[in-house]
Amino acid sequence: MCGIIACVGSDDAADTVLTGLENLEYRGYDSAGVAIQNGTDLVVRKRAGKISELTGGFVRDLPEGVSGIGHTRWSTHGPPTDENAHPHTSASGAVAVVHNGIISNYEALRSELETAGYAFESDTDTEVIPHLVEQYLTQGLDSDEAFRRAIDRLEGSYAIAMMIEGENVVRAARQGSPLVVGLHDDAYYLASDVPAFLEFTDEVIYLEDGDIVTAESGSISITNLAGDPISREVDVVDWDPEETGKGEYDHYMLKEIESQPESLSNTIRGRIDPDEPAVRLEGFPAGCFEDVSEVHFVACGTSYHASLYGARLLDEANVRVRTSRASEFTGRVPDPEGTLVVAVTQSGETADTLGALRAAWSAGADTLAVTNVVGSTMAREADDVLYIRAGPEIGVAATKTFSSQVVTLALLAERLTEDIDGAIRRDDLGSYLRHLSVLPDQIEEVIRTSRAEALSTKYEDRNAYFFIGHALQHPVALEGALKFKEITYEHAEGFASGELKHGPLALVTPGTPVFALFDGKHDEKTHTNAKEAQARGAEIIAITASERTAEFADDVLVIPDTHPDLSGLLANIQLQFVSYYTARRLGRPIDKPRNLAKSVTVE
Ligand code: F6R
Repeated sequence: MCGIIACVGSDDAADTVLTGLENLEYRGYDSAGVAIQNGTDLVVRKRAGKISELTGGFVRDLPEGVSGIGHTRWSTHGPPTDENAHPHTSASGAVAVVHNGIISNYEALRSELETAGYAFESDTDTEVIPHLVEQYLTQGLDSDEAFRRAIDRLEGSYAIAMMIEGENVVRAARQGSPLVVGLHDDAYYLASDVPAFLEFTDEVIYLEDGDIVTAESGSISITNLAGDPISREVDVVDWDPEETGKGEYDHYMLKEIESQPESLSNTIRGRIDPDEPAVRLEGFPAGCFEDVSEVHFVACGTSYHASLYGARLLDEANVRVRTSRASEFTGRVPDPEGTLVVAVTQSGETADTLGALRAAWSAGADTLAVTNVVGSTMAREADDVLYIRAGPEIGVAATKTFSSQVVTLALLAERLTEDIDGAIRRDDLGSYLRHLSVLPDQIEEVIRTSRAEALSTKYEDRNAYFFIGHALQHPVALEGALKFKEITYEHAEGFASGELKHGPLALVTPGTPVFALFDGKHDEKTHTNAKEAQARGAEIIAITASERTAEFADDVLVIPDTHPDLSGLLANIQLQFVSYYTARRLGRPIDKPRNLAKSVTVE
């Protein structure tokens, strides 16, 4: 969704805000803007387009300033135009506001303000906020009161930062959209996400819904809407600012694909002991899942595919399990006492998943968030949290976080199976964990040896791309297709191998590439169905560790031999490369695909 950044007390607010916007561009990139306060004047610059278009000359005459706010937008109300870009200002220009979220009662507020004589310049819901503040200022309220009164009128979700001309103060409010504070000496930063200000500080406060912040150089206060002081802990984040840069890579996506040996090592570290053999998850001691009789995953997109992987493992262990797309979750939990609802979410902020988590909680189920982002809304709202420890992911297309989600869910599946009555524990746990412990090295091998780049040249001009897999390879096939369509803009679909002949085969024409995933255990179905497609002219690209399986294929992407339950993780790396290199050949904006945003905080 949109990203907001604000700072006060730093030496050069304009530079800080622009740096923050560049760091946040993955959250939205159809327009951007800044407002900088130089003590007396409030200077606003904004326009449709990417951050680089804003920074490239357009803002050269900005004052350095001592405080500032900035915004990168992903449109929800109104198209990406200069007028709809944030900050939005009041009629006099004295109040500037940036906002992430949706003001659900904006139509009523807008018509009330229009009746009172306020003219609107944009189609956005946000513009009601500066007008409301100005109205209250005109009525004689001081800045603090005017801001609080305006916030009190808003319904919906918001993270807001506001400045008033002549005051070196940033005021902010949070309700339902993420907002974090960064602290460094006398300077304060406010942003939608920690990477925005990570090069300035690693000390953060995660705000809660209802918090109001007033920050000026050397002093910050957090209160509730009524003005009562609220105390929030300061956390130190252990993400390295280097991790959030592109380094020598052309794209974040490639960097993130190639960092998977490291991110996966972090996911596993201290959690597995192949010798005992045992899985240990911090915060989930032996017996803690004894009351669970059913597991219900809720998630979206890539996280949904990771959930399908986890669910299949539990199903094979005889655990009652369901998986819902969060946006389709009905909120019904027939046995709340025994149900553990697991929200799987990289960002911890996805509105559909958050809605499902809250519905499950209201229905009386125990809730667990499996997420990458410490301090995210779902990490805080769920009864328990399990971190996937993948480190910051900036590319809009999820890559390393999918692998870390799958492995975290695989470990969770082992812990659940250990505790749940009637579950069947795997009899090869030691060997499974041993294979898991060397998976990061095997991923390294795939990265070193992959032929995906050459293959993408061969297949770059086809009309459609299919991905098939059976059992644990099925979610990987779905993920392969999602990644492919997301960044290449080409038509791609993933299917369960056996489903091909029940309809999709009609779409196969001579030359259609079919990526077929083999795990060494469930290969027959995929083999038969791939051959059927081949008989209709499809070209089969086998992703396999077995030379024998590969014999019939038109092309092969080799993966190292591993445990069948882990082979999908290696196959997925090959598919990530296929998507990446195809998108690159087609000249797509890989890190920021059109119409998509990293964190989708609207339903
Ligand atoms: C695809 C992708 C999305 C996300 C989905 C859920 O590459 O990244 O499909 O997986 O929007 O996001 P999270 O995991 O943050 O809840």
